[in-house]
Amino acid sequence: MEKIIINGGTPLHGEVEISGAKNAALAIIPAAILSQDVCVIENLPCSISDIVYMMKILKQIGAQLKVINKNTIEIDSRHVNSYVISHDMTKHLRASYYFIGALLGRFSRAMVSMPGGCYLGPRPIDQHIKGFELLGATVSVDDNAIVNAKADKLIGSPIYLDMVSVGATVNILLAAVKAKGLTVIENAAKEPHIVDLANFLNSMGADVRGAGTDVIKIRGVEQLHGCTYSIIPDQIEAGTFMVAAAATKGDVLIKNVIPKHLESISKKLIECGAEVEEFDDAVRVSLSQRPEKCNIKTMPHPGFPTDMQPQFAVLLALADGTSIISESVWSNRFKYTEQLNRMGANIKADGQLAVVQGVENLKGAPVKADDLRAGAAMLIAGAAANGTTEIEDIYHIDRGYEEVVEKFKGIGADIKRVYCPDPNALTDVG
Ligand code: UD1
Repeated sequence: MEKIIINGGTPLHGEVEISGAKNAALAIIPAAILSQDVCVIENLPCSISDIVYMMKILKQIGAQLKVINKNTIEIDSRHVNSYVISHDMTKHLRASYYFIGALLGRFSRAMVSMPGGCYLGPRPIDQHIKGFELLGATVSVDDNAIVNAKADKLIGSPIYLDMVSVGATVNILLAAVKAKGLTVIENAAKEPHIVDLANFLNSMGADVRGAGTDVIKIRGVEQLHGCTYSIIPDQIEAGTFMVAAAATKGDVLIKNVIPKHLESISKKLIECGAEVEEFDDAVRVSLSQRPEKCNIKTMPHPGFPTDMQPQFAVLLALADGTSIISESVWSNRFKYTEQLNRMGANIKADGQLAVVQGVENLKGAPVKADDLRAGAAMLIAGAAANGTTEIEDIYHIDRGYEEVVEKFKGIGADIKRVYCPDPNALTDVG
């Protein structure tokens, strides 16, 4: 069992380099099997565990992988020979279900066990299934939660999503790029990683237009070819460091970002009194006084991202006054507030609303990472709090943040990762 220990209370200062976007990479890796060719993916956050698991799935279905360097992998999909992915492989992460769309696109057949991932409330896949069915597939989910999808031939179709869903938009795109004719996804998600996936598919010879708007048009092509592609910077990792700079009353230059992707976060930081300076591929965030209160409501892109909600709550927990957080994407995303309250925060969460009464200081405490972004919030809280914070269950954090301890250390945090024997394991031995 590993823990992260932070001695907080010191403003963060310096420069931090942002990695490639996890959520873009998670869509692009399965997309690579749509070409029977070789793709080189650059700026891949290779060391985070979600990516490691996706690579394991690729290997299981017959792809060959070559590590070119720390953040570049060559995926050779010529010998992919299986459309079956078992629960041992899918249970680790949500995005394993992107292989349903990708395998349908490649073989018109997919048998993929239902995915794991963070619990943020019920996570149905009805819109994914609706899309596959409109493309001509028959889809069933058996008693062992294996999704079985097959088609004689996928045929393009208009598809209206009942709600904006990142996952359904990705999965339908993957299934539709080689379908015959035109597919139009209406009410599509507009996140930067949707645009990145579309750009990757187009680099392989696909014909995808409109990504980044709510209508995406996909004209099916017979074949895709290999390509070399560099993944966009991670919007949420960048946002996490932006908030960390403000919450510790620090001054940090966050490099390798696309400032346009960070606008909703920058605007809210400015409302809280922070200074945000934009450069071509960097943002500098500083705050010298106590943050001001501000209300946030999470929304699909370009709204304020739900994946920044827990981190921003740390800043609001320290603000002068009372702020309201309204979570409109997930039904159960406030569990982490119990951990922040252990550190002296005063947050009352009920359903999809949280009332945050700001306090002057947080104090270090033993806490745990309830999920990936909740874990990021604990890192920020630990860096801002007076005293020592010990974070347990950090495997959640390792799912999505590359070299996170080193990056926090690089901007002056007193932070370390330690190995602790599992007390239950010791009892067993005894
Ligand atoms: C993705 C992100 C996740 C982020 C979320 C919202 C990845 C790997 N994960 O998750 O970090 O929090 O977008 O920005 O990119 N829904 C349905 N039926 C469906 C699909 C979704 O009811 O078939 C609902 C969900 O329960 C949720 C909402 O739609 O309430 C949005 O979900 P969705 O955008 O699909 O999130 P994910 O793709 O799972």
